Amino acid sequence: MNWEISASNELIPLPYFKEMRNSSPVSLNKEKTAWNVFKYEDVKTIFARHDLFSSQGVESVNDPIESSILRQDPPKHRQLRMLVSQAFTPRIIQGLEAKIEAIAGALCDQMETNAKVDGLQDYASPLPIIVIAEMLGIPPEDRERFKAWSDALVGNDTDRYYQCQQEMSVYFSEIAARRRVEPQEDLISNLVRVNEEGAQLSDVEVIGFCILLLVAGNETTTNLISSAMLLFDDHADAKAHLIADNALIPQALEEVLRYCSPVQTMIRTVTQTTILRGQTLNPGQMVNIWIGSANHDEDIFEHPEIFNIHRNPNPHLAFGHGIHYCLGAQLARLESKIALQTLLRRFPDFRLDYSQPLERIDSWIMFGVKQLPIILRD
Ligand code: HEM
Repeated sequence: MNWEISASNELIPLPYFKEMRNSSPVSLNKEKTAWNVFKYEDVKTIFARHDLFSSQGVESVNDPIESSILRQDPPKHRQLRMLVSQAFTPRIIQGLEAKIEAIAGALCDQMETNAKVDGLQDYASPLPIIVIAEMLGIPPEDRERFKAWSDALVGNDTDRYYQCQQEMSVYFSEIAARRRVEPQEDLISNLVRVNEEGAQLSDVEVIGFCILLLVAGNETTTNLISSAMLLFDDHADAKAHLIADNALIPQALEEVLRYCSPVQTMIRTVTQTTILRGQTLNPGQMVNIWIGSANHDEDIFEHPEIFNIHRNPNPHLAFGHGIHYCLGAQLARLESKIALQTLLRRFPDFRLDYSQPLERIDSWIMFGVKQLPIILRD
């Protein structure tokens, strides 16, 4: 497999996924340490059967992600989810629209003054970071520090990763303490309030949740926005349609989510002996559930290899399924809609600069590109 190819549709190993769906839909990896599951129905079943497939990771009290909602099973998961959902209601998310529009507009103003523009560094990456910083109530003077943390959390340097978590824990504890005395209209104040009213969300959980939002929300949304730029550039007809009718953008983004799913795989652990397509999965074994393959399953999607912005229905699993269904899905949809709408309106002639080949980020779990040089106008 070659990851350094210039055409967007060759960056994801679609032929490999297809072969696996056909020949070995449920199979052990080479090292025989984990199962790989490739078919849509199986992926969906595993998401739904949290009684058979646990989300619990290695217990580690020091790692806020490992001890976060993402890694909990019921009943603890239900409790946490109920509490944090209160900070993510449709009303709260919809209320962010004008703010996100202003952020996207300001980033476009800035790009206009640059000689060289990178769609990733100058647009798709800062946008979700600024949005979440505003949601959390991070003061503007701390933004740079916040961005550095956010970048380090998804980087490959483990020492830096743990150092960041430490720094962020101290920082968020201070903010939480201030918000307790003087609540504001922000997410941390809401979480602290939930904490005090229900006395169920500990301070460590509030802080862990804030850190999780950065890890779960920033790079994923960045990759959705940059993949949309990539795919729209690759499909001139689709792009023309979207410019002529902005109302098509949300549906087109669902197709981006299907085609280039930002989260390609999730992990579960088998809790009870389970037979899947004739294979016996034993308790304690890990399972990689390949969302990226499920979303190209020909049993569910007609001509899955075709990027079709009018695809309807489009029951992709890019945000997962079941009890862990992405809490930030509506926020990611709103951010990416505004990002693409603003970009297409301001720079309808934008195109990718293919003078250098595109490179996929060094991750099997996430899909995204490392850089995205763009030319704003002809
Ligand atoms: C869970 C994908 C954006 C917060 C998930 C899961 C997926 C996912 C697949 C399920 C994980 C599992 O079942 O184990 C995505 C994608 C995004 C995105 C593709 C962007 C395009 C966001 C944003 C936020 C967020 C913007 C918040 C700011 C969360 C949280 C969970 C989650 C808190 C855990 C929910 C739970 O365990 O109950 N996401 N996500 N995500 N996501 Fe997202």
